[in-house]
Formats: sequence, C-alpha cells, structure tokens
Amino acid sequence: MNDNINRRRFLKIAGIATATAPFISKGVMPEQQKTVRIGFIGVGARGTDHIKAMLLIKNITISAVCDVDSEAAKRAALMITKAGLPAPTLYVEGELNWQQMLERDDLDLVIIATPWKWHTPMAVMAMKHGIVPGVEVPSSLSVKECWDLVDTSEKTGVGCMMLECWSFRNDNLALLNMVRQGLFGQIVHVHCAHSHNCIPHWFFDQKTGLDRWPAEYLLKYNRDQYPTHSVGPVLSWCDINCGDRFTSITSTATGSFGINDYFIQKFGPDHPGAKRKYAQGDIVTSTLKTAKGKTVVINYDMQLPRPYDNRWMLQGTRGVYSEERNSIYLSGKSPRYENYESFAPYQNEFQHKWWKEIGGSGGHGGVDGLQDKLLVEAVRTKSPLPLDVYDSVVMSAIVDLSGLSIEKGSMPIEFPDFTRGKWATSRPKFACDKG
Ligand SMILES: NC(=O)c1ccc[n+]([C@@H]2O[C@H](COP(=O)([O-])OP(=O)(O)OC[C@H]3O[C@@H](n4cnc5c(N)ncnc54)[C@H](O)[C@@H]3O)[C@@H](O)[C@H]2O)c1
Repeated sequence: MNDNINRRRFLKIAGIATATAPFISKGVMPEQQKTVRIGFIGVGARGTDHIKAMLLIKNITISAVCDVDSEAAKRAALMITKAGLPAPTLYVEGELNWQQMLERDDLDLVIIATPWKWHTPMAVMAMKHGIVPGVEVPSSLSVKECWDLVDTSEKTGVGCMMLECWSFRNDNLALLNMVRQGLFGQIVHVHCAHSHNCIPHWFFDQKTGLDRWPAEYLLKYNRDQYPTHSVGPVLSWCDINCGDRFTSITSTATGSFGINDYFIQKFGPDHPGAKRKYAQGDIVTSTLKTAKGKTVVINYDMQLPRPYDNRWMLQGTRGVYSEERNSIYLSGKSPRYENYESFAPYQNEFQHKWWKEIGGSGGHGGVDGLQDKLLVEAVRTKSPLPLDVYDSVVMSAIVDLSGLSIEKGSMPIEFPDFTRGKWATSRPKFACDKG
C-alpha cells in the first residue's frame, strides 16, 4: 500500500492526478514504459483464450500465472514460452495464492478468469496494489460487490474493466455508429438475450454429468445468472452512464424444467441430476427502465436445448434493427415501406474504426483479440480503459437485482446509481477514440 500511496503522490506532483487517475496503472514513468506486464489468475478455458489473444500483441510479458490446478498453470506456461516469451512464475499453492502474486511490483495488468466468487475480491486487491484488473463476466455477484469495485477504483485511482466481449462485435459497433449518427432517431426500446444452452458442457461435466463449479448457482439462486453478454452492447446504444441510466428492474422467471429433462434424456431417470430440485428457472425475463424513458428487455436462456442467439433488437423513432433477421428498417430510407432490408451493406458502410484499423483476431470471431488489444494499449498508454468500472458494475448488478425482483414476486427494484449522479453530465466514452 505504501508503494501505492507514493505512486499517487508522484502523479499528483506530476500534475496528472484525479482527472485521469482512475485509468492509470502501476508504473513509475508511464511515457517511457513500453512493455505491458501481465499476470493471469485462472487459466482454464477462458483464461487460455485470453493467453492466446495476448500472445498476438507486441511488447508484452506474461510474468505470472496463478491457478489452483497446477497442470493448467503448466499448460499456460508452455504456451507462453513456445511464443518466445520468458517463463512466468507459477502460483499454484492453493486458492489464496493469487494474493502473493498480486503483491509483486512488476505487474501492470491482471486477467482474472476464475469462478465467479473470486472476481471481485481479486479485482479489489489488484487495484489496491496498483494493477489494472481485466475481469471476466460478471465482475460481481451482488450490489455490495459492485460498490466494492467502484469504491476501490475511485479510492485507488486504478481503473477496472470487465471483459464483456460482445460490446466489441463488428455488427454491434457498426450499429453504435448508426445510433450515434441519429439514423434511428430517439432510441426507445431494446431487446436482448443470452440464449446459449450451457447445461451439457459448462454447468455440468459433459461425460459424467457431475457438477462443475457454476452448477452451485443453479441449485441456490433464481435470477439472471449471466446478463452481461446480452446487455453489453446495449449500454452504449442507450447511453447508459453517459446521459441516461437504469432506474428500475422487474424480473420474472419460468419454472425449472430443462435441467431435469436434460439429465433424464442423457443419463436416465435415476441419475441424481434428474431428480434434484434446481432453484433456477429456465427463462428469466427482466425489464429495465431508464431515467430518459427507454425500456430494455433481457432474457436469460441458458438451460434449454437451442442454437446460440442474442436476439438483439433496437427500436427508435425512425427505425428498427433486428440481429436475428440480420435486417434493418429505416423510415424514409429503406426502399420498401415498412419492410426490412439487409443489414450487411449498413454494417460495411458504418463499420467502426476499431474493425477497420485494428481488426479482429483470435476467438469469438476475432472479438477476443480486439478487446484484449484495446485493453493492453489503454494500459500501455495510460488512457481510459475501453469499458470502465461503472460500465462493468451496471451490467453485473443485474445478477443480484433480478434475483431480488423474482424473490419479491416480480416487484420493481430500484437500480443503484453507481456513478453517483455523474451519468447526467458524462459524455459517451466507449468506442469514441480514433482506434
Ligand atoms: N466472455 C466469455 O465469452 C466467457 C466464456 C466462458 C467463460 N467466461 C467466464 O470466464 C470465467 C472462467 O470460466 P471458464 O469457463 O474458463 O472456467 P474454467 O473452470 O474452465 O476455468 C477456471 C479456472 O480457474 C481456476 N481457479 C479456480 N479457483 C481459483 C483460485 N482461487 N485461484 C486461482 N485459480 C483458480 C480453475 O482451476 C480453472 O483453471 C468465468 O467467470 C466465466 O463466466 C467468459
């Protein structure tokens, strides 16, 4: 902590404190720092995706890797050395060994891709040590944890970014350009969903049906467990935290049928998974209202067999976009009255600079590479992080708030203002840079 305090004192003396401080990472002479020094906590499936993406970026080191599974850590180390970088120090001594790793004074950025319960404690400690956390989704599981991230970021002056990759999709960013250029007029309503059957491969072991770590949440909670992939791009389309904000949420859940039926079909009616009761309903529908009169509907839909879908739909006073149809209708512009036309030509015309100038690489159709590169370059240049702590928690708070609403018979729940009023005067920052 002393080191942190000294660093903040240095920034103040250098005349660059407060206004830019929330985005500044650890380091002594920022402008001379060329290499971004990265640590990893959790190198399972998603952590490995991030290692692959990071290894495509020039001037980085991955000096530390932590995982309770030493084989996973060794696999990660092998990927790093095969790419020609020095071998990282491994932290594999139990589930709190990440604390020792975060005490190192040679890390600028830490990627956190562990089970959910660790995200906030790890990100908080990273910030306290002057290290920028890039934390997987959701960044927090409760409103209290959301405030922990905001309070720590504001107090330490260190930024925090949740790695919500769908905010960086080519189509979603082109749509954002169109929204900002007024093609849809005033935005009125958005629909989004995370329709992804994760029962067979993620919540439970594919071969045995045994619980993986996320299964615990299906047994204990009934809420939108995973809202960030749906709502990620919606934040910027709706100017959330920069001109508007969510004010309330109302959520309703169906009964829980899909998980039991999956076990009956795959493992037979005597498998324990076929009989026990899951708290989590199959579909959760949340309606969020904004201060400026918009509504956003989000569907949690992760436990019924179906193809992947996000079903983004955006409606304004001058047109409508449907991701499901890959179509658009703009009043007075589309050739046939009140008929959809293809979105593809619009996606080309309004393609975001990030995709034109940087482009995608790696997983999720190139989105992982773009997202991670933008994060690393922001840390390298001491610039605002692509998604900030307020964006991160506003997406994540839906987990807890949707559960509260369901528990109270779908009562509306007040949505906290994590910006403490700054939303009213803040200008949009996301994807506004020159790429
Ligand atoms: N953005 C996306 O598209 C996407 C996709 C999948 C998962 N995720 C997110 O990534 C995170 C990880 O998911 P996953 O599928 O990779 O899970 P996983 O189980 O494959 O990996 C988690 C890793 O964390 C390690 N771990 C657990 N406790 C630890 C601790 N205390 N200290 C250090 N390491 C620890 C495990 O050993 C494992 O290697 C989750 O938060 C999930 O929501 C995001």
